[in-house]
Amino acid sequence: MSFTVAIDGPAAAGKGTISKAVAAHFGFAHLDTGLLYRAVGRRMLRGEDPVAAAQSLRAEDLQGDDLRGPEVAQAASKVAVIPEVRTALVDFQRAFATRAGGAVLDGRDIGTVICPEAQVKLFVTASAEVRAERRFAELAAKGLNVTFEGVLEDVRARDARDAERATAPMVAAADAVALDTSDLSIEAAVARAIAVVGAARQGA
Ligand code: DC
Repeated sequence: MSFTVAIDGPAAAGKGTISKAVAAHFGFAHLDTGLLYRAVGRRMLRGEDPVAAAQSLRAEDLQGDDLRGPEVAQAASKVAVIPEVRTALVDFQRAFATRAGGAVLDGRDIGTVICPEAQVKLFVTASAEVRAERRFAELAAKGLNVTFEGVLEDVRARDARDAERATAPMVAAADAVALDTSDLSIEAAVARAIAVVGAARQGA
């Protein structure tokens, strides 16, 4: 039987950590859908047409440390505006969502476009400043040469592009549970998410 948990929200709100923890807790598979757009964005940076790249995405496109870097993040947000890129990635995400044994997908449009029938929808947010602080600490720890102001600017630019695009913009589904992590520890945020999913499973 399938059971889908859709987790959406802006960059660095805590979606990834929460999604992994929820998947581990319930024994569900996890897909970070941002990686698909990042893989397409990286191929665009290497000179390929983004639509052709999305239509021919391979498992090996999801490898490599630079996939999680800031340059690829901006490229991902740019290719994500293109409707044909989004269309090319739909079937893979939907098949993943309905696999037996349960699945957690995190992204921007999972609860609204990819899995409107998901049993649980969470919309995870935090203020732009808090998110930039988290991302800055993460990138600085990796030894990347970044400034807080630069990261904050990147976060704001990506928020605006992701929320204002015409196709599948980042928006909370009407039936999503909002989880603002600005003032929550990661443990507290994870505990709330697990409680929401647990309650929905009881009712499923
Ligand atoms: O979650 P992330 O930061 O890895 O996502 C990178 C970019 O990909 C994000 O800025 C917008 C895009 N994206 C999207 O449009 N839809 C998704 N479901 C996931 C990511």
